[in-house]
Amino acid sequence: MFDTMTMTKLVGALCGALLVFLVGKWVSESLYAMGGGHGKGDDHHQAYVIDTGDDHGGDEAAEEGPDLATLYAAADEASGAKVFGKCKACHKLEKGENATGPYLYGVVGRDVGTADGFAYSGAMQAVAQVWGVEELNAFLENPKGFAPGTKMAFSGLKKAEDRADVILYLDLLDGDRVELASAPAEEAAAEPAAEEAATEEAAAEEPAAEEAASADAAGFAAVVAAADADKGKKVFNKCKACHKLEDGKNGVGPHLYGVVGRAVDSVDGFRYSGSLSAVAETWTADTLNAFLENPKGFAPGTKMAFAGLKKEEDRANVIAYLESVAN
Ligand code: HEC
Ligand code: HEC
Repeated sequence: MFDTMTMTKLVGALCGALLVFLVGKWVSESLYAMGGGHGKGDDHHQAYVIDTGDDHGGDEAAEEGPDLATLYAAADEASGAKVFGKCKACHKLEKGENATGPYLYGVVGRDVGTADGFAYSGAMQAVAQVWGVEELNAFLENPKGFAPGTKMAFSGLKKAEDRADVILYLDLLDGDRVELASAPAEEAAAEPAAEEAATEEAAAEEPAAEEAASADAAGFAAVVAAADADKGKKVFNKCKACHKLEDGKNGVGPHLYGVVGRAVDSVDGFRYSGSLSAVAETWTADTLNAFLENPKGFAPGTKMAFAGLKKEEDRANVIAYLESVAN
């Protein structure tokens, strides 16, 4: 009969299709399993090995390769000019010519957020004072990571070489060469830093000392114990440009592996300014809290060119993170 015949053909066709589908699926699954499952220890499948570092994303660039001082010494102005092609849509180089972004003439060494007539978000000023090479390097790697809330809608330059090149290019536009902060004239630096700290403190509603004192009852360690190390990992993005977490690996700053509980100024092979050990002996939750809130206020003359973490929560979280890394 017509219906039965049609039905039979239809069912037959469906069964056939299903069979082909199942066989195909099985074949592709076993192929996939061969590639993925054995890929790890199998040198025929190097393409898979790359995946292991992927979930760290930006970490990789920060952990490997030469440090900023080395890169900056080898930077290339001409290739920096090419990298600047990525900035041109928003930035002009001529003094006073603001566009979507502020003009960049003389930006290396310039105070953050000071191009006349440009309406800044305020986000960058919250995390840095002067655009030294280190700060620019950190900002350009990950603008929103370095200055959350910045209105620079740019995803960042992932390659350390690109950053070094473009910073050098920008620095050479004016006559005023800016050196890395790694080797400062210590005594000359000490005085203005202290002054700066004083005016900053006057501006702040509550001086750091008072806040530290109010936390004294239980100590800041109690706050850190309740803090969130995962969030601290994000806060640590602000430190990454200068600090590594692996034991023995110094960058612009000393490595921070095991820093909680460590003696101040005690990393082998790192040239400290001496300003830190002048004011503290051991990095406890309390001393770290005071230092990270206002590095130059806590240790005038320190060569850590970092404006500080204004939020207590950020400080607690990042200290919890540093503690978790070493244990
Ligand atoms: C899509 C537009 C855009 C692009 C692309 C862009 N920027 Fe910006 N940039 C801005 C804006 C907007 C600001 C102001 C940010 C704020 O106020 O938070 C800014 C701020 C800056 C500052 C701070 C200047 C100051 O006066 O404090 C520097 C330095 C900078 N950009 C460098 C660069 C470099 C180098 C590149 C290319 C690698 C680049 N920018 C790409 C829009 C952009
Ligand atoms: C622009 C580079 C830079 C950034 C950003 C930076 N640091 Fe530092 N840090 C340094 C330098 C340089 C020193 C050495 C200071 C000295 O000798 O005066 C230092 C010292 C320290 C020390 C003392 C270590 C010791 O061995 O005594 C700690 C702790 C520290 N930094 C934590 C942090 C944390 C946490 C952050 C992020 C919230 C951060 N730093 C961001 C450059 C930086």
